[in-house]
Amino acid sequence: MIEIKDLCKSYKIGKGKNSSETKALENICLKIEDGESVAIRGKSGAGKSTLLNILGILDSYDSGSFTIDGEEIKNLSDKKAAKMRNKKIGFVLQDFSLIDSKSVAMNVMLPLFFSDCEYKEMYKKAENALELVGIKDQIKKKTYQLSGGQRQRVAIARAIVTEPSIILADEPTGSLDSETSSQIMDLLMEFNKTKNITLIVVTHEDSVADYCKRKVVISDGKIKTDNT
Ligand SMILES: Nc1ncnc2c1ncn2[C@@H]1O[C@H](COP(=O)(O)OP(=O)(O)OP(=O)(O)O)[C@@H](O)[C@H]1O
Ligand SMILES: [Mg+2]
Repeated sequence: MIEIKDLCKSYKIGKGKNSSETKALENICLKIEDGESVAIRGKSGAGKSTLLNILGILDSYDSGSFTIDGEEIKNLSDKKAAKMRNKKIGFVLQDFSLIDSKSVAMNVMLPLFFSDCEYKEMYKKAENALELVGIKDQIKKKTYQLSGGQRQRVAIARAIVTEPSIILADEPTGSLDSETSSQIMDLLMEFNKTKNITLIVVTHEDSVADYCKRKVVISDGKIKTDNT
């Protein structure tokens, strides 16, 4: 379970007299149970990516509390935080963030290099993940040789290969046409339902948000509505 209480985050730009501060998140309170599907919505600059980066333990927060399964994230050492991120969280981003010069297999195996998994086992896990997303036959290709939809499937395979309990997606369909978008959302929803993976999706598209049971709207760094 994810629990956020009175969380604040601001960005400081510059030093001394010329410095300025942007309040990106203000007093955010959010409780997300295991297996929920949540769309995060709001205008550009509202704070959606900031929130997602904090949820993904990629960025720090200034005050308030944020726990995953009861563990306060700001109290974790860098090593423990990295371990938690690797074990519990899978990321899917708009630009897929794949390594083009590497094979599909290597891209999917990437998060496993930080575990004590042997190569053969890593490869097997990558194969299984690619089978689940329907592109096992592409395993030997380089990712630049794939279509946009296939690339996003590779990114999803990479996100699920560690069997995370949470998938965080920032505009996962932003670079895809509408038909491919719905295929990708069907796939993410299938993992949400069959594996009880919590799915949190930042999107500006109604059709994508409508897949999620819960919709949280952020405006100027604050939660405006939350249909729990
Ligand atoms: N690294 C940064 N340094 C300084 N300010 C930042 C940084 N990242 C974000 N901000 C500011 O924080 C606020 C929230 O940004 P954020 O990226 O979270 O918005 P967003 O809701 O994801 O917008 P978009 O829909 O355009 O992606 C904005 O005012 C932005 O300019
Ligand atoms: Mg953003």
